[in-house]
Amino acid sequence: MGQDVIIACDFDSAEKTFAFLDKFTGKKPFVKIGMELYYAEGPSIVREIKKRGHKIFLDLKLHDIPNTVKKSMAVLSHLDVDMCNLHAAGTIRMMEAAIEGLTREDGTRPLLIAVTQLTSTDEESMRRDLLIERPIADVVMHYASNAKAAGLDGVVCSPLEAGKVHETCGDTFLTVTPGVRFADGDKGDQKRVMTPEEARKIGSDYIVVGRPITAAEDPVAAYERCVREFVG
Ligand code: C5P
Repeated sequence: MGQDVIIACDFDSAEKTFAFLDKFTGKKPFVKIGMELYYAEGPSIVREIKKRGHKIFLDLKLHDIPNTVKKSMAVLSHLDVDMCNLHAAGTIRMMEAAIEGLTREDGTRPLLIAVTQLTSTDEESMRRDLLIERPIADVVMHYASNAKAAGLDGVVCSPLEAGKVHETCGDTFLTVTPGVRFADGDKGDQKRVMTPEEARKIGSDYIVVGRPITAAEDPVAAYERCVREFVG
């Protein structure tokens, strides 16, 4: 399970996505398909990108009753994605049901990772809106431990939390981290950012990078730079 850069394909149509992916004539990058693209194009976009030879992280963040999540995961598993995710807030039982649904008849399954607390949620909104009084770092580590207990492969977290997650859940428990920017780049709306090199040093297994690659003048060069800085 080597480190890799995952490009967030945050486009609203297949046309724009393929125009972007067509630029990559060499190595086919690992890509993330999020809700926007999936809801715009449906499962066919997953099949088409897979056919082009890309690994896929399907970022749909499931959160529902265990039975519904189990059945939905079974559908996603047949789409042959490489990684998918859910909200740890759905409880250990929901995460266990997800694993059951995701596991194919031959025993294989895509990697399953949990969202702990979205980075858009801060301590103030946790207290005010959700009545969660504990410090956010404790909540993130508790959710990560729950994900591990349920048999998941890792979590999505801020690169700032990746080291602590590994300390708590072990080196082989994966950390997938967005919020990555080049040292000389624009931060956009991401507040707590790290460079690919810093993310590597702190122990991120996968970095998810969107606009620094998708909005670059030369996306292939930006992707290659990112791989160089992250993987070395
Ligand atoms: O363009 P940018 O590099 O900010 O894209 C980051 C990607 O990671 C987006 O698809 C965003 O939705 C996702 N993400 C994030 N922060 C989280 C979870 C997911 O930025 N906590």
